[in-house]
Amino acid sequence: MTIAPPFSPTPRQRRHAEPRVGPTSAPTTPILTVDLGTVRDSYRQLHAALPGVDLHYAVKANPSQPVLDALLDEGACWDVASPGEIDVVLAVDPDPARISYGNTVKKPFDIGYAHARGVRQFSVDCDAELDKLIDLAPGATLLVRIATSGAGADWALGQKFGCDEVTAGRLLARAVTHGHPVGICFHVGSQQHEVTAWDEPLATTTRLRGVVRARGSDLAVVDLGGGFPAHGADPTPDVSSFGNAIMAAVGRSLGPDVPPLMAEPGRALVADAGTLETEVVLVSERAGRRWVYVDVGLFSGLAETMGEAIRYRITAHRDGRPLRGRVADVVLAGPTCDSVDILYQQHRPQLPLDLRVGDRLRIHATGAYTTTYSSVGFNGFAPLREVHR
Ligand SMILES: Cc1ncc(COP(=O)(O)O)c(C=O)c1O
Repeated sequence: MTIAPPFSPTPRQRRHAEPRVGPTSAPTTPILTVDLGTVRDSYRQLHAALPGVDLHYAVKANPSQPVLDALLDEGACWDVASPGEIDVVLAVDPDPARISYGNTVKKPFDIGYAHARGVRQFSVDCDAELDKLIDLAPGATLLVRIATSGAGADWALGQKFGCDEVTAGRLLARAVTHGHPVGICFHVGSQQHEVTAWDEPLATTTRLRGVVRARGSDLAVVDLGGGFPAHGADPTPDVSSFGNAIMAAVGRSLGPDVPPLMAEPGRALVADAGTLETEVVLVSERAGRRWVYVDVGLFSGLAETMGEAIRYRITAHRDGRPLRGRVADVVLAGPTCDSVDILYQQHRPQLPLDLRVGDRLRIHATGAYTTTYSSVGFNGFAPLREVHR
């Protein structure tokens, strides 16, 4: 009988046995590079397309400081969703009058915090939230959010947010009675492809303006929301087409006496500026289909591929050069041990047939809604890093 010697791991084995979150050495991928010049260009284009409309950047899309600095420099105001975002914004722009608190779901503490820090504009879509605001945000401008169908958008928001016209009329009347300046806001759904999506909510806005005027007040602001699309895998109208259609609808609905206008773009200002580089970990056949596994997934930033809602444009590279040659449909999946970590199964991006382990994919227009969606360390993978140029 031989007796096994006591196990004494080598330094290498010991390193791998240590429980830790994050990689054992700094990985080069996945990494998101955000081009600040493109952020500035995107702001200028949307600003030119929507003349006279104050652009409040939806900070949730990408709250990194260089992005906020660039947008501040271009003249952006802010749309925030939480006290955390208020703090981030005030660190780069100390004027709270330039902040709109667009989240319709707020803790009483958060409303009090915002008001104490000087925020004076809040959104609301139900009586219970209005009760809180009347109590905790005296004098603030209250924007009533009306629901939209979300038709034409890849990421609809109408189910969770917004109210019907009757409710909106009641909320506006209550807010006016309590001495608040009022406005109307809506969101036509994110990554919206239809330039006419603003027509219906603007027509509703006009009717609701009548309710407000009947009480001796008027709309202090109309907020056109976000929704302007990035350049993903599917073609979409350019920003000037959106601007022309929206400004025409504004003129038809609210002219000639148009109230002050604002919008809350997120994706359109930062998505196109971002390129996410990821490494191919495995290429295999499963049930007659070609699967490509990469080192970024649903849990490390690409949460918007949930339901394959947001479809990114993807290119393949080897040693920094584009891979050319014959392509084929693939299933694209992330690296974790979770079976939902599949990016695209129906949409089927086309990738080169000679793609192999170690090649890189560039996932384009990923500057919005990626880094902040990344988990803190699911399966031991580090959060998505962001660099700027
Ligand atoms: C209240 C609010 N405003 C603005 C935005 C930004 O939308 P988008 O990125 O589609 O422009 C969002 C996105 O979820 C939102 O919830």
